[in-house]
Amino acid sequence: MKRDPEDSPAPRDPDAHGQQCLIRAWDEAADGYVSYFEPRFRPWIEDAVAALREASPDPGIVVAPGCGAGLELRLLAEALPGHDILGLDPAAGMCRNAARRIHDLPRVTVRRDDGTRTDAWPRPCAGVLSCFVLQLLPHPERALAAWMQALAPGGVLSVVFWPGDLEPEGPFATVRRILEARLAPRNRAWEGTVQDALRAAGGDVLRDETRGHAMRHESAEAFWEAMTLSGPLRPLVLSRGARFVDDVRRAFLRASPSGELVHEPRARLVLARRG
Ligand SMILES: C[S@@+](CC[C@H](N)C(=O)[O-])C[C@H]1O[C@@H](n2cnc3c(N)ncnc32)[C@H](O)[C@@H]1O
Repeated sequence: MKRDPEDSPAPRDPDAHGQQCLIRAWDEAADGYVSYFEPRFRPWIEDAVAALREASPDPGIVVAPGCGAGLELRLLAEALPGHDILGLDPAAGMCRNAARRIHDLPRVTVRRDDGTRTDAWPRPCAGVLSCFVLQLLPHPERALAAWMQALAPGGVLSVVFWPGDLEPEGPFATVRRILEARLAPRNRAWEGTVQDALRAAGGDVLRDETRGHAMRHESAEAFWEAMTLSGPLRPLVLSRGARFVDDVRRAFLRASPSGELVHEPRARLVLARRG
């Protein structure tokens, strides 16, 4: 009999269990993510790529941990035509999409792998670009340190991620409020230590700012469907089960206006150079 995840006993290693759900969720989400979220997240991905290009990384390889369906790999190839580019993602569906995306780009490769296993990265590493992955990881500050330490001296790290307070109003804020009332609070303390983590790992922080871009959704219903089938709430569906998610859905729809949703979330962009 299929069990509701809510009925499951507590996992022995919550980090490992959370990572398994996360990877399965992004595997399932991949095809829908390409059509729904990628175009909406694109302006920030372009910001992160532009920041990396403006910092003129030395020759070498640029690694994109959590490259998803590969949009950032194409943008990197255009921005840095003299560099080799390696995309890493643990979700098979994402890697499949990314491989299709880059088939005509000889200097770009994709590998299915955890993006924090930096010991397996080729060297010299001239750049690291990471978009919308950091906030998903169990230990973001450790990932930042590992990415910084993987860089050759002078190498550049460009990271964009969703902070906890990404918008005061809007559908992301509504979801967040509803979940905060139902789940144990997420530890967001790491957001305050991003610069310290990078400096301790040998980096100079060149930029640390938030960027807002407009995002549109046909309706609250369409937003919810995309979020749970092919977006950031897919892991919650797998980890908490249908009953919990239905309850959150009802609360979300009650709290949302009818008609088109337009909002302007702000992502955080951090650029740092290895000393
Ligand atoms: C929101 S998507 C972002 C994808 C892409 N960077 C973009 O901006 O469109 C998050 C990605 O992080 C990946 N991910 C999850 N855990 C990861 C890990 N430990 N290392 C690398 N990537 C991971 C997921 O598989 C998914 O592709």
